[in-house]
Amino acid sequence: MHLPNLKEAQKRTNKEVKHETIKPLKSPKFQGQKFFLRTYGCQMNVHDSENIKAIVSSLGFDETTTLEESDLVILNTCAIRENAHDKVFGYLGRIKHLKETKPNLIVAITGCMSQLESVTNLIKTKYPFVNIVIGTHNLHLLGNFILEAQKEQTIEVCSTEGDVYEGLEYNRDSKYSAWVNIMYGCDKFCTYCIVPYTRGKQRSRYMQDILEEVNNLVASGYLEITLLGQNVNAYGKDLAEGYDFADLLEKVAQTNIPRLRFVTSHPWDFTDKMLNVIAKYPNIMPYIHLPIQSGSSKILKLMGRRYTKEEYLELFNKIKKTIPNVCITTDIIVGFPNETEEDFQDTLDIVNTCQFDGAFTFIYSPREGTPASLIKDEIPLEVKEERLKKLNELVNFYSLKSNQKFLNKKVKVLITDVSEKDATKVCGYTEEFKLVNVEAPKSDIGKIIDVEITDAKSFSLDGKKTIFIKNS
Ligand code: SAH
Ligand code: SF4
Ligand code: F3S
Repeated sequence: MHLPNLKEAQKRTNKEVKHETIKPLKSPKFQGQKFFLRTYGCQMNVHDSENIKAIVSSLGFDETTTLEESDLVILNTCAIRENAHDKVFGYLGRIKHLKETKPNLIVAITGCMSQLESVTNLIKTKYPFVNIVIGTHNLHLLGNFILEAQKEQTIEVCSTEGDVYEGLEYNRDSKYSAWVNIMYGCDKFCTYCIVPYTRGKQRSRYMQDILEEVNNLVASGYLEITLLGQNVNAYGKDLAEGYDFADLLEKVAQTNIPRLRFVTSHPWDFTDKMLNVIAKYPNIMPYIHLPIQSGSSKILKLMGRRYTKEEYLELFNKIKKTIPNVCITTDIIVGFPNETEEDFQDTLDIVNTCQFDGAFTFIYSPREGTPASLIKDEIPLEVKEERLKKLNELVNFYSLKSNQKFLNKKVKVLITDVSEKDATKVCGYTEEFKLVNVEAPKSDIGKIIDVEITDAKSFSLDGKKTIFIKNS
């Protein structure tokens, strides 16, 4: 048994990162049995879940979306805010009942919550029916732990800086759009954030390994690739190879993947070189997610973000100028400890100045082990809730305004699914990452089509496929 240790997780030593190619496990042991997987959190977890699906499928499991039908339940968890935590423990209550009628049910917890001491302590004492707890650094071993699952609980969480594993397999959710990890972990240590502790040190994959994966995806007909990392523009800084994110982006663009995206960009590492590459290649999509977190330079300093409000604005304007049709979205936290009315006003001001195309907004949630969680906070929750409400009204106003710019315009949409809102329609994203529900046949799924926008709402667009009538 290896329990997590937050103090260890905080350390960054000069230990060399191991780049190891693993051989996926294959066994028919669970043929005919079913797994149920629930994913919380960010795109990293969504993509890790694609890896989990490949791991358990190679043990013989088939997927079910009905919990009661399953022989293996996996909760791939997120630790970013307290509510993510509460949802998982709520769900474990449901699983406990199921296990009473199905004693051979295997229950596994993976993801960022596994990396927290408080969580594993609680699971040990209050949730003994959980068979396996495995952390983010050794997820590739999940198959081994499932094969050996016993009545006693197995907790295997490493709090080391982490390594890089190649040869991972993925059962991808989409046949058209794929995630590709370019790096793991984060070294930024923003004072409110748990990610550097749950995901370990920043570890970049070698460029040739990433390009090999991308080339395979292109050859299998993928139309879109999103490069993934907590901090993609810091790519390569931890390697001694002499290349950076701009170099990688250019090489990936040259594979001729029709659409190339990347998340998340930290304003601090955003270089002109990178911006020039984005502007140069039409297959790099004109969309950038650039979290600001706060509009108050005082709060940004306390958050450890390493830029001021003015520096953010300068970068923002430079991006807008270099890529004229770009859409920029952001993340904003309200209610950081002792955020004053004036600080909050600074945040509203910057939203008014930048007029973001969209924003994810959050109330600050103290995370045990982070420096910000030690600050005595005098601001009552009701005040924070009121600020979030005000901020959301403003953010939604600008999202709508941004969407309205597309009214009656022709856009290119990669159609990926049947629309969730209306089963007679299909849906997909524009180049600027706007969701569109489209009147078009289902046979267009998997194609990039021309669409005319007929209606704009705050969170999506409506459109119809444009038909070109040839003049005879
Ligand atoms: N690496 C990305 C963010 C990953 S987490 C970046 O630095 O931009 C996604 C978002 O969750 C963050 O941008 C932040 O807005 C929010 N977040 C992180 N920790 C939080 C906390 N303790 N409370 C509330 N929101 C938080
Ligand atoms: Fe968290 Fe900051 Fe790293 Fe983003 S950059 S994952 S907010 S520590
Ligand atoms: Fe959550 Fe871990 Fe992602 S904490 S947001 S799943 S990196």
